[in-house]
Amino acid sequence: MAIPELLQTTTLPNHYRDLSVEEMTLRITQIKAQLGDALFIPGHHYQKDEVIQFADVAGDSLQLAQLCESNTKAKHIVFCGVHFMAETADMLTTNEQAVYLPDMRAGCSMADMADIYQTEAAWPILQQLFGDTILPLTYVNSTAAIKSFVGTHGGACVTSSNAKKMVAWALTQKERIFFLPDQHLGRNTAFDLGIPLEAMAVWNPQTNTLETDQDPATIKVILWKGHCSVHEGFSTAQIDHVRETHPTMRVIVHPECSREVVAASDDAGSTKYIIDKIEAAPAGSQWAIGTEMNLVNRLIAQHPDKKIISLNPYMCPCLTMNRIDLAHLLWSLESIVAGTPQNQITVDAHTTKQAKLALTRMLERV
Ligand code: 13P
Ligand code: SF4
Repeated sequence: MAIPELLQTTTLPNHYRDLSVEEMTLRITQIKAQLGDALFIPGHHYQKDEVIQFADVAGDSLQLAQLCESNTKAKHIVFCGVHFMAETADMLTTNEQAVYLPDMRAGCSMADMADIYQTEAAWPILQQLFGDTILPLTYVNSTAAIKSFVGTHGGACVTSSNAKKMVAWALTQKERIFFLPDQHLGRNTAFDLGIPLEAMAVWNPQTNTLETDQDPATIKVILWKGHCSVHEGFSTAQIDHVRETHPTMRVIVHPECSREVVAASDDAGSTKYIIDKIEAAPAGSQWAIGTEMNLVNRLIAQHPDKKIISLNPYMCPCLTMNRIDLAHLLWSLESIVAGTPQNQITVDAHTTKQAKLALTRMLERV
C-alpha cells in the first residue's frame, strides 16, 4: 500500500533505526559544532536524558518561550518538547527563523482536549449565561488557535510558573475567568487565591453545559474539562502510602494534579518550582515527587545526597514527550544540513498576530 504523502514527509526514515547510539551521538555533536549559533535546541525538562544532553538550554514552558523570543541569532530552532511549545516558539520568533519538531507525533493530550470549534461553540453560551463578564485565560498547553481566540477576547496565556499572578490579574479585568484547557491548574490556582470551590464550575465541551448545582451568578471561575493524563495519574492513596512508609518524607506535586492530591501534599508548584525546591533542600532530606518521570529520574540522579522517589513508582513518562529520541533529533538536524528540513512548525500570520496578544499579556507581566 502506498504511504500517504504527509506520512512520507514526517516519518523517520528506516535507516535511522539501525544506527548505534555512539554513531548518532557523534553525528549530532558534529552538526551542532558545524551550525554553531545558527542552531538552537531548547529542551523541556520532561525530555529524555539522551535528548536533554544535546539541549542548549533545558527549561520549563515559560523559560523556553522566553528564551526562544530572546534568541535572534539562531536560524534553525529544533524544539525538543511537544507541538504546542514549538508553535509558541514559532510565534515568538522572527520570520527568518524556522522551528522544527523532530517528531510530529510529539503532541500533548491535554492540549488536544480543547479544540477551537468547541471553544467557539462554548463562548456564546457562556456570554448568554454571564453577559460580558468573562475573561478567557489559556494555559500555554493549548493550540495556537485557542491562544488566538483568547488574545482576540482580551485574555492572556498562563504557565504553571505564573498562573497565580495571571489569574489575579484577570480578575481585576473582568468579574469571571474562563480557564482552558486544564481544569486542575485552574482550580488549584483559583483556590490558592482564596476563591472557594463552590464558586468554580466545569465547562463540559462534549455536552456544551456548565456542570454546577450553584446559581450561575455565584460562579467566578469556569474551568474547561481537560486534564494532563500524566499528572492525573497521582492519587491521594499514593500519598497515604508515602505517609505510612516514609513518615518524614515531604510530598511535592505539580499543580496539574487534582485538587485532592495538591491538598494532601506538603507543597505544590511548577516544574521550575519543584526543581528549585529540590536543589535548595538540605542533604538527607526526603522527597516524594508527583510529576513527569523523566524529570523525577533526573532529579534522583542529580541529588544522590537526598532520598527522592516518585509519588507513583509505576508512573510512565509522558509518552508524547518521549517521542523525541536520538534518532529523531539526528534526522531533524541532518535534514536541515541537507537543505530538506522536516517537520517545520508554522503558525499562520493571522493566528500568530492574535495569539501573540495573549502571549504578550503574559510575558510582560512575568
Ligand atoms: P511547565 O513546564 O509549565 O511546568 O508545564 C508542565 C507540562 O506539563 C509541560 O507540558
Ligand atoms: Fe501534555 Fe501532560 Fe505531557 Fe505536559 S506532561 S506534554 S501537559 S500530556
